[in-house]
Amino acid sequence: MVETASAAPATQQQSDNKDQWSSQKYDKHASFVPALGAPVLRLLDPKPHERILDLGAGDGVLTVELQKQCQSVVAVDASADMISAAQQIGCKDARVVDGHDLVDDQELASGQFDAVFSNAALHWMKRDPQRVVEGVYKCLKPSGRFVAECGGYMNCSEVRTGLHAALKKRGHNPEDYDPWFFPGTKTYTRMLEQQGFRVDSIELIPRLTPLNTDIKGWIETFGFTFMKPFEGDEETQREIREEVQNNLKFSQDDGVWSIMYVRLRFKATKI
Ligand SMILES: C[S@@+](CC[C@H](N)C(=O)[O-])C[C@H]1O[C@@H](n2cnc3c(N)ncnc32)[C@H](O)[C@@H]1O
Repeated sequence: MVETASAAPATQQQSDNKDQWSSQKYDKHASFVPALGAPVLRLLDPKPHERILDLGAGDGVLTVELQKQCQSVVAVDASADMISAAQQIGCKDARVVDGHDLVDDQELASGQFDAVFSNAALHWMKRDPQRVVEGVYKCLKPSGRFVAECGGYMNCSEVRTGLHAALKKRGHNPEDYDPWFFPGTKTYTRMLEQQGFRVDSIELIPRLTPLNTDIKGWIETFGFTFMKPFEGDEETQREIREEVQNNLKFSQDDGVWSIMYVRLRFKATKI
């Protein structure tokens, strides 16, 4: 597979600090995300004595699983709403931290963690993905491992293309509102090695993913940055969701909507 993903400039949205994540929408439209986290948890293989950092922990569904299997887990996420939901379901140590700021976090980035785990979150940290890798490195003990799955090259391409077309049609440059960094294996290997990690395994995994609801629900939950030019204009936002879904009619089979996800799953060790 040819892989050409590269780090992109910050979007206009990312300079906006408003929390646009909703744990309620996440639970309603996207509970499949943590539910599909088992393979990356297996790759992590947590041990009872270990201290683990869950980066981009979201509403804490996987963090709670991790808590059962190791000594302690710190959950971090940029969204206060998600962290509040994580606390409510029993995450003992859940904090609002942007992945880009880990590197400067005196407490977390002091080489105390046996492993950093991340599911479905790294691709949102687009402003400076290399800085995120640097932060992870600083959090780990020597020989600590970084085990993660995130969106990879060509992830969710149909719906992403639909959103780009909808914005272009309305006179906006979609690149300015696209929040995702979907790297290929070569790109991310380079980034990990540049930081001093040894890459133990890395692969792109195409995964046809049935949705809880439909494409419109998915866009409501994950496509909020594309709605930035239409803030306050609920009608246009609704029209865009309808339009993208109508153009993806073939993504429905027997009443179930699906999106073709491509996951980047890797394990790396601090050397
Ligand atoms: C799709 S959710 C995944 C949540 C969880 N790991 C799971 O498997 O359910 C992505 C999460 O990444 C978080 N996120 C996005 N940008 C972030 C950033 N810059 N720093 C930390 N977390 C971020 C979001 O707030 C959201 O909770």
